[in-house]
Amino acid sequence: MPRDIRPLVKPIIPLFPLDDSLYRLDAEEIAFLRRQTGIQDEVALKTHIIEVQEEAYKVAPYACIRGFDFLRQNMSKLHIYDHILKRGSAGAILLDVGSCLGADARKAVEDGFPAHNIVTSDIKEAFSELGHKLFKSSSEPILFIPGDIFDPAFLSISRPASSVPGCAMPDIQTLRSLNDLHGRVGVIHASKLFHLFDEEKQLELARALGGLLSCESGSTICGTHAVALEKGIVRRTVLGIEISYFCHSKETWTSLWDGVVFENGHVNVETTTSTVDVGGIAFCLLHWSVTRL
Ligand SMILES: C[S@@+](CC[C@H](N)C(=O)[O-])C[C@H]1O[C@@H](n2cnc3c(N)ncnc32)[C@H](O)[C@@H]1O
Repeated sequence: MPRDIRPLVKPIIPLFPLDDSLYRLDAEEIAFLRRQTGIQDEVALKTHIIEVQEEAYKVAPYACIRGFDFLRQNMSKLHIYDHILKRGSAGAILLDVGSCLGADARKAVEDGFPAHNIVTSDIKEAFSELGHKLFKSSSEPILFIPGDIFDPAFLSISRPASSVPGCAMPDIQTLRSLNDLHGRVGVIHASKLFHLFDEEKQLELARALGGLLSCESGSTICGTHAVALEKGIVRRTVLGIEISYFCHSKETWTSLWDGVVFENGHVNVETTTSTVDVGGIAFCLLHWSVTRL
């Protein structure tokens, strides 16, 4: 079985129907979508979004597609966003892993992160075209590389870099695998990704992303996902879909990065939390960053 989100999500038979009453965006989100699509009329914008949502839901019946979460800009709300933009001005590569339709990457470009230094990646290849359709963008210049983050041919685990890679930087626009980026990425963003996997897989993914990070001080891995007061399985029914998440606590997440993935004292881990309402269910989210000292 491909290692996408299926292991933790019960099979959905039949598909839960889409429900446009779940379309609830705040003013900031609507303004971003207007700027990106050029569609000013709110009704026309909603019609356009729902058309793309229907196609995306056929590709992957994810709760994040059904609940319109694929439209949200997560990275720009992180405590470390200004730092991310500064790394962009300094020439860092940004990797958005599990990028879905690419809202976060497009927001970063809007805010000044050089598009040619951004790599987006997702297991669903069709999300690249659907992202262009949604945002009415051309195929250039944000790179999208399809692949499974648990496939070693695409992303293998390596020790965190302790020096700048000796060989020349590959041309980003011709990349086919994340393995060409070991030790080279200045900013890695993983939003609502880790909690799709069990504890063992989360550690595997953390180690794999740790190996991609540049050794340069200030390089950072960051993201958002569900958190629990104590680590363990959390079971919820979200918008009619039964989901089991393995959630770390704030403390276990911090010690996973500072001491397991990276040597103790080599990174600064920062966390904040927020609560969101997803289909009437309160979810506690952890917003986190792991920054090389
Ligand atoms: C819940 S969505 C989050 C999307 C987006 N980052 C956000 O915050 O809205 C998780 C994304 O991870 C992708 N994904 C799931 N398993 C994956 C895997 N094994 N390799 C790469 N991407 C994966 C899904 O296709 C989906 O786009």
